[in-house]
Amino acid sequence: MSLPEQSFEVQIASTQAVYVIPPDKSIVQVLHENGIKHPVSCEQGICGTCIVRVLAGEPDHRDSILTEAERKVPGEFTPCCSRAKSPRLVLDI
Ligand code: FES
Repeated sequence: MSLPEQSFEVQIASTQAVYVIPPDKSIVQVLHENGIKHPVSCEQGICGTCIVRVLAGEPDHRDSILTEAERKVPGEFTPCCSRAKSPRLVLDI
């Protein structure tokens, strides 16, 4: 049995703006609702279109495309499906 999804915050490095990601929405969905046009395609963690670097925070990787090395350095992350283990992630957008 998996744990229920948690909400968390995402901060956009270029603007310092902070958005709350609720349990039922992806990071990309919330960014798009707020007018941030981050590229997205598969929304399942398999194509790599949405890959972005995480500058701070602990990601909860849910993709099927990144290797463990890519996840560690330079901290690549798929905001279409992945979430956070820490209360906030800072993304290089
Ligand atoms: Fe395909 Fe995120 S949109 S991996």
